[in-house]
Formats: sequence, structure tokens, C-alpha cells
Amino acid sequence: MKGAAAWLKLRTSSRCAGKTIGFAPTMGALHAGHMSLLKRAKRENDLAVASIFVNPTQFNDLRDLKRYPRTLAGDIKKLEAEHTDFLLLPSAGDMYPDGYKYRVNEIAESEVLCGAHRPGHFEGMLTVVMKLLNLVRADRAYFGEKDYQQFHLIKGMAEAFFISTKIIPCPTLRETDGLAMSSRNRLLEMEQRLLAPALYKALRSQARPSEIKKRLAALGFKPDYVEDRWGRRFAAAKLGKVRLIDNVKAMPVP
Ligand code: PAF
Repeated sequence: MKGAAAWLKLRTSSRCAGKTIGFAPTMGALHAGHMSLLKRAKRENDLAVASIFVNPTQFNDLRDLKRYPRTLAGDIKKLEAEHTDFLLLPSAGDMYPDGYKYRVNEIAESEVLCGAHRPGHFEGMLTVVMKLLNLVRADRAYFGEKDYQQFHLIKGMAEAFFISTKIIPCPTLRETDGLAMSSRNRLLEMEQRLLAPALYKALRSQARPSEIKKRLAALGFKPDYVEDRWGRRFAAAKLGKVRLIDNVKAMPVP
């Protein structure tokens, strides 16, 4: 299934009529975390829909966009194995017929955490998610909590613009050593991959955010932030060229 226009035709066809739709938007390079969203979409709805679109407007760094892993053939196999009913595979032209003149702009909570370090990122992300939600018109859309700020902003946008799709958070899936699953993990060099779980370990310590930041820097990370918000503790840090993010529920103080 290719392209947004083709989807719109199909969305109104008898194949979808009266059926509930669960939707997991992705940028591809699918891993077990993505597949858990699609499994849940399939379990809780009549039809499961995925999208794969590496959205250029949410990359504040062109090199990051170029490096972003693209594994379409393997992704399609994984989607088929999970019996995903439809894959929306739009082009940039499909998604931005207006040339990105029209945008969704949140002016408070998109300015903190990743927003403070990635100018334009959340504007591009919210804009594309609004477009995808409008195209698919799902009953439920599923987002991983690894990108908790993203989930929080999408939920806020859906409420602010009366979008009827229910926005559902799903738990972060982790590798056996604790590293949060992410498409970017495959860009880590071997030594960086061995060090990467230290981010999760540091987040779960009882230390203050400023102390954790220092510890991460001493280990060889370049931390952007370690910060408490919304009852959670968030961190973002670079290992070489790869930016890792993670968050955990705030630990009760002993
Ligand atoms: O989390 C992602 O993969 C992307 O930010 C999303 C939600 C698919 C929008 O491009």
C-alpha cells in the first residue's frame, strides 16, 4: 500500500467499513519496541495500520537525517509476520503538498528537555503526526514511552484540536542489558554499545540530576540534560554521533 492518496481511497472502502483501526506511526528501522505497538494495535482493534515515513521536518540536523537507518525490505517482512493489515508509505510530497507552510506549534512544553536542544524538532513531529492522524483516522494510536515528551505533546495536541483518535502510551522495551530499544541503537559502534546501558542505570540511581549528569560525562557521554518532570526522570546524552534518550518513573526518595 503506497501513498497517502491511495490510503484515503482505501479508508472509505468496504474493507475498512465499520471496523476499528489501531495505528502505529513509525520512521521505520523497526525493532521489537515498534512491533509491540503493532501487536497491541492488532489485539485491541479490528485492523492494524503502520506507517513508515522518515519525516525530514523533525530533523534539526541534516547529517542525522542522512544517517537515519532505512531498512524497508526487512520492515515489511516484520509487519507481515505480525499480520499488520496496512502499511502507509508516503513520500515527502504526499505529506507536504503545502511545502510545510502550515505547521503545528506548541509553545510551552515543547520548549523544554529535547525541545531546548533540538530546535524545530517538535514542530516537525507534531505537524507530521497531525497529518498522519488525519489521514488514518484511527480509533487508537500507539506511542512508545521511550519518547515520553513526544507522547505527552501528541496527547496534548489531540486534546487541543479535538482529534478523536485515542492516544495510547506503551511501555519502553529494553535490551537485556537495560538499553531502551531505538532505531538509532544500530548506529552505535561496539564500544559505544557496551557503554550505552549506563544511561538507564544512571537514571535509576538515587543521585540528583546534576550529579547524574556529571557521572555520565565522566563515563564518556556528552549529556544534554538530566531533568525531573511530569513525575519522571529524563535524560538525553550523545555517544559519539548518536543521541540517546531515556526516561523512568521518578524513584521514591528512601
Ligand atoms: O517516534 C517516531 O518514530 C516519530 O517521531 C513519529 C511519531 C513516527 C513521527 O514522525
